[in-house]
Amino acid sequence: MASSLAEVMQVIQRYVPKGFNPRIGMILGSGLSSLAEQIVNPVSVPYQAIPGLQTGNVAGHASLLVMGYLNDVPVVCLRGRLHLYEGVSYDSIRLLVRIVRKLGCNIFIVTGAAGSLREETEPGELMMINDHINFHPGNPLVGPNDETIGPRFLAMDDAYDIDLQDIMQTAADKLNITLHRGVYISTLGPSFETPAEIRAFKRWGADAVGMSVVPEVILARHCGMRVACVAAITNLAAGLSKEKISHDGTLHFGELAARKLTKLIPEFIKEANSIYAMG
Ligand code: HPA
Repeated sequence: MASSLAEVMQVIQRYVPKGFNPRIGMILGSGLSSLAEQIVNPVSVPYQAIPGLQTGNVAGHASLLVMGYLNDVPVVCLRGRLHLYEGVSYDSIRLLVRIVRKLGCNIFIVTGAAGSLREETEPGELMMINDHINFHPGNPLVGPNDETIGPRFLAMDDAYDIDLQDIMQTAADKLNITLHRGVYISTLGPSFETPAEIRAFKRWGADAVGMSVVPEVILARHCGMRVACVAAITNLAAGLSKEKISHDGTLHFGELAARKLTKLIPEFIKEANSIYAMG
């Protein structure tokens, strides 16, 4: 039987350290767990311990909700994401994002791997996402709406927070990290795209393509969190390079980009916390 959010929070609250009052949450893709490892005084809740959560296939070992401190700032980190292509339903993704909000977060940082549709944005680089195209076959808000969480009809014209983009850019400049900007398009996966699909997506205005991000961003906005999103570019999208796209190929460049994110996100957190996360 599905558990209500309130019931789930009763379980989560048992793990919350005394005096822990986070304002910043984040979700990390599988290649980005090195950032989670930097969290100081971590308390982890395995996804399997969260009632009603479908953990998919790849969740197993590394999927944890981690509470702790980055740069002395209390953070909640979803280490390991649930993908629709694993057969996981929107219910579980919804639950994870809403837990982060219920723990007190009002800023949500979304990271993930993506292919670049722009030749000048190369594998190993970072792209700050400033808008998206939802090309998933659904929307995580379909179904009855709980007005205590958010509105039935959610505006998405400001999904990616302008002020947080400025803070991210300042953090990147400080660290000498190049930050491209662009529009993310979500595909269901798990197959990569065809060159014809990529040509079509380019005409629609997409700059990066990936299999996640969009449901989490919609859900985070719905429950009132400001969103900052950075994609780790792991490859040029299908048809844009002579290299054949493979999961193994993306791992190498994912690692390169992850190293940059591992510096960028803590710097961003320090700044964002002092300016926006106090309320
Ligand atoms: N397409 C979809 N998802 C991805 C890609 C891609 O090229 N690279 C990393 N995630």
